[in-house]
Amino acid sequence: MTVFHLSAECYPVAKVGGLGDVVGALPKYLVNEGIDAKVILPFYDKKFTQTHVFETVFTGQSNLGNRSLAFEVLKESTNVLGFELYLIKIPSLLDRVDVYGYPDEIEQFVAYQISVLEWVITQHIQVDVFHCHDHHSGLVPFLIQYSTRFDSLRDIPTVVTIHNAQYQGWLGWDKFYYLPNVDVSKTGLLDWAGCINSLATAVKCCTRYTTVSPGYLEELKIHSNGLEHLFYMEQQKGLGIINGIDPDVWNPETDTMIGDNYLASNLKNGKALNKKTLCAEFGLDDSKPLITFIGRLVIEKAADVLPYIFSACLEKFKGEVNFLVLGSGEKYIEEALSNIPISNNYNVFIGYDEQLSHRVYAGADFILMPSRVEPCGLNQLYALKYGTIPIVRSTGGLKDTVIDIKEKNGYGIRFENTTPEDACQAIETAIKLFADTKKLNMLRKKAMGLDFSWNQSAQQYKQLYNSLITIL
Ligand code: ADP
Ligand code: GLC
Repeated sequence: MTVFHLSAECYPVAKVGGLGDVVGALPKYLVNEGIDAKVILPFYDKKFTQTHVFETVFTGQSNLGNRSLAFEVLKESTNVLGFELYLIKIPSLLDRVDVYGYPDEIEQFVAYQISVLEWVITQHIQVDVFHCHDHHSGLVPFLIQYSTRFDSLRDIPTVVTIHNAQYQGWLGWDKFYYLPNVDVSKTGLLDWAGCINSLATAVKCCTRYTTVSPGYLEELKIHSNGLEHLFYMEQQKGLGIINGIDPDVWNPETDTMIGDNYLASNLKNGKALNKKTLCAEFGLDDSKPLITFIGRLVIEKAADVLPYIFSACLEKFKGEVNFLVLGSGEKYIEEALSNIPISNNYNVFIGYDEQLSHRVYAGADFILMPSRVEPCGLNQLYALKYGTIPIVRSTGGLKDTVIDIKEKNGYGIRFENTTPEDACQAIETAIKLFADTKKLNMLRKKAMGLDFSWNQSAQQYKQLYNSLITIL
């Protein structure tokens, strides 16, 4: 069975957040399950593309309205990622450095989707399932059914995975002419609240959609940035499958990005060494608990609340706790975090640094995630794998993956509201736990032994694909 994964990100080719991690790992585990999973990405001018060998497997032409675009399909020659990787390159549109943030992002992703389909129909490529990740490929289920240009693909089932419904890929109706040969009686399927909404279209037109945790599947009916009614109406097509983690990349025993490798059996010493190095680098007090935040500094992650939480706790627990932030995002949040005075209890690194993130997961005692919205969350899973205890708000995937220490078999700290008060209370619990070294080490060991590998989730995706192929 051949499954085409369409995505904007795929680690290590291009990663902005968890979407990249998932698309860089899941296909590998699907290949292990006997599925011919391929990833098709827009081309980016990044380190990976500069340092790997690609062959051109197709050159073609696609139309974006009245603009004719020459494109190339490049294949990574050695399947170094454990699956076939293809890149769609369009000079001066899909050949840039960054994944997101360009003023013509709509044109970029529409051209990407149309070019993938052009390539598939022209070369008569066998595709059994199109698996579209987030809104960047959300028009594919519509296009293959209702554009006469792609008639031959009409019966191919589509799976749409929603990693984050906050971003929906909105296009004004003035861009409708970008979509080739569309059956105009079906244009209602493109519309949500007066514009073309790629994610809403995907949900309406896909065969099945999945969310990256079961909890998020339910939440979307209540909070989904305006799509609540749609998720309610389409719920029979939905399925929640929790993400996994890739131990080839995230494993304290083998991680080449951390200073001192460790196992559950020598975690006390291993973690202490990593913490010492990290605290020395950031001028922190390694005898006190180290709580970190790693992530995008955006409202969804409640990063706007972090400065209040840190200021309140630094005052309340004077000298008794350290905070270290690694993140980038909204400028006003970056500034607010940078304005907190650096001390031997607080430091911040504004920027994106993959290697540093590994060192922080390994060196920190706790990771704080006060997220307002968290469809799955990978940080808490990586943290657990490194014996770092998560302090999370009870929402979405965080609720599905972290059991509070007050409950049976618990290993994390949960709190209810995105408020400095609730977060500070949870931090107080963490400080007390840190003082109880016996309990802390028992919990760390338990955390490291949890199984959040991809194997089980990959099997669930496989079952889903099989069910779609059997239906037809
Ligand atoms: P999201 O995809 O919503 O950003 P996830 O928890 O699913 O959240 O995944 C975030 C991923 O991005 C993790 O791999 C995390 O380590 C990484 N990450 C986020 N911000 C940074 C940063 N500033 N530097 C390095 N890695 C980061
Ligand atoms: C999104 C979500 C995050 C999830 C990731 C991978 O970016 O915000 O919660 O873990 O996708 O599915």
